[in-house]
Amino acid sequence: MTGFDAQFPDLDSHYVLKIGDEAPDFSARTTRGPLTLSDLRGKWVMLFAHPADFTPVCTSEFLSLSRVADQFEMMNCVLLGLSVDSLPAHIAWVEAIYREFGIRVTFPIVEDASMAIARAYGMLDPLAENTATVRAVHVIDPAGVIRAVVSYPSSVGRSVAELLRLLAALQAVAEGNMLAPEGWAPGEGLLLPAAETESEVVASGPAWFHRVAGDAAS
Ligand code: BEZ
Repeated sequence: MTGFDAQFPDLDSHYVLKIGDEAPDFSARTTRGPLTLSDLRGKWVMLFAHPADFTPVCTSEFLSLSRVADQFEMMNCVLLGLSVDSLPAHIAWVEAIYREFGIRVTFPIVEDASMAIARAYGMLDPLAENTATVRAVHVIDPAGVIRAVVSYPSSVGRSVAELLRLLAALQAVAEGNMLAPEGWAPGEGLLLPAAETESEVVASGPAWFHRVAGDAAS
């Protein structure tokens, strides 16, 4: 039995997680000590996979994430980096980032040398010649449910500002009765679901399919 089979017996290696799935639990070594994902219940988690340590785009992402790590913390969100590199490689990389840029990476980076976690989360690029993870982000809610999945190729860095916005939007709609429109930012109006009954449509007026919460006609 491989490490993958042992940790995730119900998943085959082609399993791809979807929004609404329970996040597969794992225990792993990290740059901040041992960690079990389910111990983070009650917090949002942004699981942030990168292709490899000591690479240019990944370094730019970690610099940006580290600069705003306190904002994620204030939003009750734990940042978790992950790659298939070893723990010593992760530690050497964060030390080099501090030495060269004066920025401390204070959030944990998960060691996934067996690729068990990357396989369970569908983070491995099937077209890649090596085992590097794609730039996958899984946003996990406080109950351990996946609420968003983002995937970028290794050649394009993610926008940390957009990840903060995504987290804020997911938190704003978490109750389930509001929707976040395009480009929504904290403090802006949310949308109501489209009116469904005839009386609701009549009461809402011609723009019944785009009702901003708090507007008179909504
Ligand atoms: C990078 O982060 O720069 C990178 C990582 C893997 C492949 C190509 C680029």
